[in-house]
Amino acid sequence: MARTIAIANQKGGVGKTTTAINLAASLAQLSQRVLLVDVDPQANATSGLGIQRAAFLRSTYHLLVLNESITNLILPTSFGLAVVPSDRNLAGAEIELVDFPDRELLLRRAVSPIRQEYDFIVIDCPPALNLLTLNALAAADALLIPIQCEYYALEGVSDLFNTLSQVRRIINPQLKVEGLLLTMYDERTNLSSAVAADLRSFYGSMVCETTIPRNVRLAEAPSYGKPIIYYEPRSRGAESYLQLAKEVLAHDKETVRTRAERPALGELAASG
Ligand SMILES: Nc1ncnc2c1ncn2[C@@H]1O[C@H](COP(=O)(O)OP(=O)(O)O)[C@@H](O)[C@H]1O
Ligand SMILES: [Mg+2]
Repeated sequence: MARTIAIANQKGGVGKTTTAINLAASLAQLSQRVLLVDVDPQANATSGLGIQRAAFLRSTYHLLVLNESITNLILPTSFGLAVVPSDRNLAGAEIELVDFPDRELLLRRAVSPIRQEYDFIVIDCPPALNLLTLNALAAADALLIPIQCEYYALEGVSDLFNTLSQVRRIINPQLKVEGLLLTMYDERTNLSSAVAADLRSFYGSMVCETTIPRNVRLAEAPSYGKPIIYYEPRSRGAESYLQLAKEVLAHDKETVRTRAERPALGELAASG
């Protein structure tokens, strides 16, 4: 039964898509059966895996709005993982779905027939707490939150946690936090290490042990349509995402893991 991980943070540019592509590819490299589902109308995860718009007829739009079977949408890649691609049509889904009953549960229902066929389903979310992100959170077992190591790192994280509580209360009581993932960590700056130290002291074991460094190879890889482990396997970016995949696998194996979640999430945001 697949473990489904939604990668969300309503802030843009924090490393969601980079994490979705590279966590998915690294899990596949570790012999896991992986499906990446792109629910961002910007479709950066789709293009970052080298899938051109002309190469597919149906996308997550067809899955969610037109109720097409997921098996008709899954595309293979050369990287040992499969993808449900996205495209710009999905941008209108919010409005088109407004009168749908159970419109937050569409993705959960859509993926349920194929959950046996994968070990991991990774969902790349748009930079908004909108209906698409709610669908991802409703379908997920766990939420992975990339946080950029910068001054306003925690801006918006408390809103995300509020949404998480609502989703737990109303649609998905089992939803866990996979972790807060520090991204674009720059060891040359005091700011990065200060932000990282703050986050670790505040959130403790909720912060992933793996930290993703700022690495130019990670930024280049999507324009070649490749995950980092194919584009530049010896880069620090590749090593760090492989390490993250191992960490996620280890979480998966722990039968009972209780992570301390602290309610006073606004405090650190205020201190920057
Ligand atoms: N660790 C990293 N080092 C360097 N550049 C990165 C790193 N992670 C992401 N980027 C770049 O930062 C930008 C935003 O990342 P992206 O993953 O698209 O964020 P999001 O999906 O949250 O909007 C992209 O240009 C991406 O290539
Ligand atoms: Mg993105």
